Amino acid sequence: MRALSAQGHKIYFLVSPQGRIVLREELRISLSPGGELSGQNKEQLLGKPDYSNLVSLGCSNMEAEIASGTAAAQGMIVVPCSMGALARIARGISSNLIERAADVMLKERRPLICCPRETPLNIIHLRNMLHLAQAGAQILPCMPAFYHHPQNLEDLADFIAGRILDGLGLDHKLFSPWQAPDNKQP
Ligand SMILES: Cc1cc2nc3c(=O)[nH]c(=O)nc-3n(C[C@H](O)[C@H](O)[C@H](O)COP(=O)(O)O)c2cc1C
Repeated sequence: MRALSAQGHKIYFLVSPQGRIVLREELRISLSPGGELSGQNKEQLLGKPDYSNLVSLGCSNMEAEIASGTAAAQGMIVVPCSMGALARIARGISSNLIERAADVMLKERRPLICCPRETPLNIIHLRNMLHLAQAGAQILPCMPAFYHHPQNLEDLADFIAGRILDGLGLDHKLFSPWQAPDNKQP
């Protein structure tokens, strides 16, 4: 989100009720019960006081513009994507705005990137991922690389964020791409 915001992209932020718990437990960011962001939340997420390009929507708000293919959203990232959400998106079950917006991406042939991080995977998870990939989504598991010798957790997270931006066809400097040993800088 920070990289997208730095490039001036408008971001619609949606979080499921369970995602709200994950945000609280993992990032110590507490949202209102409806999942909508306060100004303080926006500042925490973007790491800067200017959050004018971050739009927060409740995930039960099925009247939001991104529920329709006529909206101009150019792509969507579901990160982290729980196995429950992945299953529902793979089967076209639009029970909330996250799933409906993902469904819209698929029907409009726009990029949908789903980032699971479950491990190990059962055969239901694997089948749903195949189904979703065949429907046009990119399955981008949160699996960091180590060739760039990450020094901290931020470096690992930046690698995944960079791969997501790659998936959207956007430039970034979040990590250095792999170079063949002959081309490496000394
Ligand atoms: C701190 C925390 C982390 C979690 N991480 C994951 C995860 O990485 N992958 C996953 O599939 N479920 C994870 N879960 C479980 C999901 O939150 C749970 O399956 C939930 O029902 C998914 O809701 P959703 O389908 O609305 O995303 C986690 C739960 C908690 C509390």
